[in-house]
Parts: sequence; structure tokens; C-alpha cells
Amino acid sequence: THPILISPSILSADFARLGEEVRAIDEAGCDWIHIDVMDGHFVPNITIGPAVVKALRPHSQKPFDVHLMISPVDPYLDAFVQAGADIITVHPEAGPHIHRTVQHIKSLGVKAGVVLNPGTPAKMLDYLIDDVDLILVMSVNPGFGGQSFIENQLRKIEAIRKMIDKSGRDIRLQVDGGIDLTTAPRAIAAGADVLVAGTATFRGGQSAYADNIRQLRGG
Ligand code: DX5
Ligand code: ZN
Repeated sequence: THPILISPSILSADFARLGEEVRAIDEAGCDWIHIDVMDGHFVPNITIGPAVVKALRPHSQKPFDVHLMISPVDPYLDAFVQAGADIITVHPEAGPHIHRTVQHIKSLGVKAGVVLNPGTPAKMLDYLIDDVDLILVMSVNPGFGGQSFIENQLRKIEAIRKMIDKSGRDIRLQVDGGIDLTTAPRAIAAGADVLVAGTATFRGGQSAYADNIRQLRGG
């Protein structure tokens, strides 16, 4: 089993000084940097595009974990890789050809992730698990930070943990939405090994980030 990784969602950062915020979570000991890309079409909010990812790239060497909540997604994959994404995670609900999209991501030389909305069953992964590097379980409906953890997603995490172990492949199991000091240990117990956290990382200002990250990790 893997060590627990923390991937702070910069959706909860101060957007007026995003580069400084990325440096701060890097220095505070995060593992990855989670970047939520929203288009106002697949989800009811608009956030960050490739130009912002590119501008942030010099501020940290840590992996950029880019969560694409956009439809269509295929026309933008190359731009996010050129901007500096290390992991690109896509929703099967966002288009008709998720298998093709995963192959496209891999052909660009970065890690490929698939993310399931709260209403999407684990079974969706049956014919994707052979190819992905990461599976993300949404524990809120995507679009906004600061929402409450949806309890029944713990069952999905448990089911996917079994699928991953059975596959024998090196796949990370990530959870995103409503992760705090109460839900983090439960998600870990269910089998998650990468925690995305926006609100819980950025609360209390920059002097609190290191403690926030350490506590989320369970240490
Ligand atoms: C929701 C995003 C999440 C969100 C998490 O659409 O994918 O990454 O920022 O925020 P918190 O941790 O505040 O629930
Ligand atoms: Zn996200």
C-alpha cells in the first residue's frame, strides 16, 4: 500500500495571489497540487484555464494534478500538458469516448486519471482500470468547494479499492470533496490513498497550512 498523499485544491486559495499560495502549500509539505478546471457547462462554475496553469508552473516542482470538469475535453488535453500538467483526470460523464480520451492523455506522456461523480457507479471502471494511473471518487457533486461529504461514497471507495488490488496494477485512489479531519480518516480506512482538500488546507491563512496538511495526513 501507498503512503497517504495530500493534494490541496487551489480552488480555495486566494486567486489574487495564486503563485504565492502555490509556493506556500509546497513549502507546507503538500505532495501534489490539485487544480480544478471548470467550464460553466459540464459544471455550474468557471475557474482556471491552461494560461493560469502555465503561469503557476514556475512556482512549484510538485506534480500538478489537473482535474478537468469540462466538456468537450479532448480539444484541450494538449494545452494542459504543454502548460505543465503531470496528471490529467477526466470525467466519463463529460463525453462519449472516455477510453479514447484516456489513450490520448497517455499518448501525451502524462499520467491519466478517471473521476466518478457521486451518482456514477464503480462498474463504469470495468474496462478502464487496465489503462488508468489514478481513480478519483467525487464525494461531492463537482462545481464548488466547501460542500459536505456524501457518506455513501465510502462504499464506492471500498469497492474500487478491491478492484484495484485485484488488478495488481499501480493505481492511486483519490477522493475529492468535503475532506476534513473527520472525513479524511474514514476515506483512508475505506481505501483512499490520495486526499484532495480545499477548505481544510487553506483555512487559517498561510501560517496554518503546514499543520493543516500534517493533520489531514493523519500525522
Ligand atoms: C469540486 C472540486 C474540489 C473542491 C474541493 O468540484 O473538484 O476539488 O475544490 O473543495 P473542498 O475540499 O472544500 O470540498
Ligand atoms: Zn477537484
